Order: sequence, then C-alpha cells, then structure tokens
Amino acid sequence: MKTGIFYGSTTGTTAEIARQIAKEMGVTENDIHDVANTSPVKLAEYDLLILGSSTWGHGEVQDDWYDFLDGAEALELKGKTIAIFGDGDETMSDTFCAAMSVLRRRMESTGASFTGEFPASAYTFESSPAMLPDGNMVGLALDNVNHANLTPERISQWVKTLE
Ligand SMILES: Cc1cc2nc3c(=O)[nH]c(=O)nc-3n(C[C@H](O)[C@H](O)[C@H](O)COP(=O)(O)O)c2cc1C
Repeated sequence: MKTGIFYGSTTGTTAEIARQIAKEMGVTENDIHDVANTSPVKLAEYDLLILGSSTWGHGEVQDDWYDFLDGAEALELKGKTIAIFGDGDETMSDTFCAAMSVLRRRMESTGASFTGEFPASAYTFESSPAMLPDGNMVGLALDNVNHANLTPERISQWVKTLE
C-alpha cells in the first residue's frame, strides 16, 4: 500500500507534523507534498492519502488548500482511503481544528473512503465542526499551541489505527 502525505502550512507547524507522521509510518520525503506546489493529480498515485491542514480565520482551511481542493474534489479516487489530520488551538473552542471537516466534506465527491477518526474526549473545547455525532473527531486533531508535548504520543496512537 503506497502512502502519500499532503499538507498545507503557513508558519511551518503542519509541515513539521507531516514529517513526524511520515517518520512514524516509514513514508519517505518524496511522498510528502506541500499542497502549495503540488498538482492535485498527484493524489492518484497513492492508495492511502493522508491530508493535513491547520485551521485559520474562523474555522477555515489553510490558504494553500483552496486551489488544491478545487482540483482534488473533481478527481475519481474510488478504492483509495483518506485519513485526515489537523492542528489548531483548543482555546478557539468553537472552531478547534475545523479545517478537518472542510477537507472531509470537499473530498467526499471523489468516492474515496475515510479512516482515522480519533476520540474527541482527548481534547478540551466546546464544539467543533470537526466532531462527529459519534463523539469522534473526523481525524487526528493536534494542538501544538497549548499541548505540543502530547503530539508525539497522539501521532503514534493514530498511525497504529491506519495500518
Ligand atoms: C489568526 C489565526 C486564526 C486561527 N484560527 C484558528 C481556528 O479557528 N481554530 C483552530 O483550531 N486554530 C486556529 N488557529 C491556530 C492555528 O491553526 C495553529 O497555530 C496552527 O498550528 C498553525 O499551523 P501552520 O503554521 O502549519 O499553518 C489560528 C491561528 C491564528 C494566528
């Protein structure tokens, strides 16, 4: 199973997390892609797609994702699996890691299936569009602003659910 990691990052935090996930999964540097300079058709080369965005504005995806998603959502990715991660700030307690829900919603049209939900009980926030009715987050949510110390263990726990 070929795994590709695609991320958007403004100040470098999500880029660093993408590298940490890659290391944990044995994904090489060639298969880590910054969506700012990657064509969406690259997605078709992989079986497992790991998509990551920080949250900006009031619950929006990181800027570089906009153009990428316009192309990506038109692709046929049936048979592939998508796992989402995000990083944000729990104190923005009604939009914590909300960008993950945007990635999920926009990629649904591709026919890919989704994996990698993560228990929302691990976090402290009031509500988030990234939280599903079953009590899980749509993907791995990380908070390197307030709880960077928890990130390595959360990544390690999450990656095991993808294998
Ligand atoms: C102006 C601004 C708005 C933000 N809005 C949110 C938000 O709505 N929800 C959230 O969880 N985090 C929010 N954050 C926190 C960022 O997502 C967080 O700092 C992230 O790690 C940045 O990652 P990046 O440098 O890879 O883009 C915001 C940060 C800033 C500076």
